[in-house]
Amino acid sequence: MKISVLTIFPEMFRGFEEEPVIRRAILKGAVQIEYIDVRPFAGGSFRHIDDSTFGGGAGMVLRCAPVLKALETVRESGSFTAALTPAGEKYDQLMARELAQKEHLILLCGHYEGFDQRILSRADREISIGDYILTGGELAARVVMDSIIRLLEGSLRAESTAEESFENGLLEYPQYTRPADYCGEKVPEVLLSGDHEKVRKWRLKQSLALTLKRRPDLLEKRILTEEERELLSELIEEQQMISQTEQEQQILSETEKEEKPL
Ligand code: ADE
Repeated sequence: MKISVLTIFPEMFRGFEEEPVIRRAILKGAVQIEYIDVRPFAGGSFRHIDDSTFGGGAGMVLRCAPVLKALETVRESGSFTAALTPAGEKYDQLMARELAQKEHLILLCGHYEGFDQRILSRADREISIGDYILTGGELAARVVMDSIIRLLEGSLRAESTAEESFENGLLEYPQYTRPADYCGEKVPEVLLSGDHEKVRKWRLKQSLALTLKRRPDLLEKRILTEEERELLSELIEEQQMISQTEQEQQILSETEKEEKPL
């Protein structure tokens, strides 16, 4: 796979290729990355890359000519162009898997108040990495590249991505390593039991519990298996019992306070 990054701040990608997984992918030929500095395409002595927005308003917008000229130098017939912008589609693991299939991915990094709309209309997709505003698309492009490259063959062992958070629509279960007892805090007994079936079930229940607590939206999107539905009802029952006990304890302590003579 080839990735071309179009940016006015190529220095914001410094160090990216030094991370071991990324470096391995590059050395194995799984990915080739090029950074295109858009600024020289602006021409003129001021290399005027941005301009104020028509209709008024604060901030500057990236001009069409330099960005589109730079784009034309890298775009080929099979290229897929994605622009990084806070108004894009929300990036997720599914999109990472989709983009990892592309032969040539071009990432357009916006800066300041963003792109002239005529640049965006030439992109195949607009991507946002989350509901917050970054100073530019460069950090977002690093996020997108990192999440894609680790999925490419030759980067990681396949089984190390298969059970990660989001890969099966659930958050990942908790993991532990040696020692089995750290300052009195013990690893759950089941993980030391050597019973693979019990471990599998425990992990699934933990994944469901975490997803229910932190990302119930993921559960709504997912078609649950029979086993997952049973575990989920167990979890909901357990939660109800906990909150009932908590309520009872609160009532008890309030009555105790009331009964205490002054
Ligand atoms: N540029 C600025 N904010 C961004 C975001 N959240 N995602 C992608 N690109 C951006």
